[in-house]
Amino acid sequence: MGKNGQNGVKKIAVLSSGGDAPGTNACIRAIVRVASERGMHVLGVSHGYQGLLNGEIAPLTRRAVGNIIQRCGTILGTSRCKDFTTPEGRAKAAAIIAEHKVDGLIVLGGDGSFRGAAALSQEHGIPIMAVPTTIDNDMHGTDYTLGFDTAVNVALEAIDRIRDTAESHERIFFVEVMGHVCGAIALEVGVAGGADDVLVPEVDTDIDFLCEHLDKGFHHGRRSSIIVVAEGGETGGAFAIAHQVWRRLRYDYRVCVLGHIQRGGTPTARDRVTGSKFGALAVDTLAAGESGLMVGEIGGKTCLTPLEQAFNGRRHADQSLLELARRLTR
Ligand code: F6P
Repeated sequence: MGKNGQNGVKKIAVLSSGGDAPGTNACIRAIVRVASERGMHVLGVSHGYQGLLNGEIAPLTRRAVGNIIQRCGTILGTSRCKDFTTPEGRAKAAAIIAEHKVDGLIVLGGDGSFRGAAALSQEHGIPIMAVPTTIDNDMHGTDYTLGFDTAVNVALEAIDRIRDTAESHERIFFVEVMGHVCGAIALEVGVAGGADDVLVPEVDTDIDFLCEHLDKGFHHGRRSSIIVVAEGGETGGAFAIAHQVWRRLRYDYRVCVLGHIQRGGTPTARDRVTGSKFGALAVDTLAAGESGLMVGEIGGKTCLTPLEQAFNGRRHADQSLLELARRLTR
């Protein structure tokens, strides 16, 4: 244990990397406030690993993180950085970290960002903690990634609105949601939004089966239909699927791609609280002299998982939700 009771960890740095996720600002706030309570200094790195390589580093004070908990995005800015995937890029980053006398780095991001963080730690002995921040909820080693709940609720509100116009015009709406190659957002939104079907990358899409279901529904008096389509499926997204259905059924349809609106707005209480818990645990763990871990949540409890587990596997969406969605609409 070091003389300040933090195992010699006096100064830490934090950065966001990859796609921004709601709840990230709550997490940054918790990191700064818990570190400050422990007498540690925090440096904020702007624009992810790219900013680190550019030396975009400045102190983050308790005051600087006031009035941010209610905002989506990340106050630090983020990026996807090619240079950091090379040993040369990481060596340069390590030199900059040493120059700033940083004793530990907290990386907020997804699996790609953590792969880089683990390599930086292994190659240069830099203590690392990782916080899973991605709306996709697709990471191994945690049941929950920050931002998922907000993304789901934003998409759900959009679907509720789309229902009004769909019903008025008696149309089929194909609503595409984000998720990279994971159907977690689509399934949650599909069940909560009462969708007539949910198409996810984890399950092959059967267009004939979908058409039969839609046709039957309209013949039995259904006036409109919502089909939730996860991006990243082999069939090619909502536009491609809608066109294939139209070629068979000729029903009036529209496509709505929700896209990046799912990452903005107001973070839900779930994401603010989880972000706060994750940030506090990341600092406490570094202060305890530990490294190479990802904070996360398993079985409703905040926990720590070896970083490698996070990127040596992918978490698949809960397919029982697909069965449920279909049971409730067929
Ligand atoms: O990984 C998070 C995510 O929001 C995915 O759902 C989506 O496919 C991707 O990022 C979009 O990335 P970008 O913001 O670079 O377009």
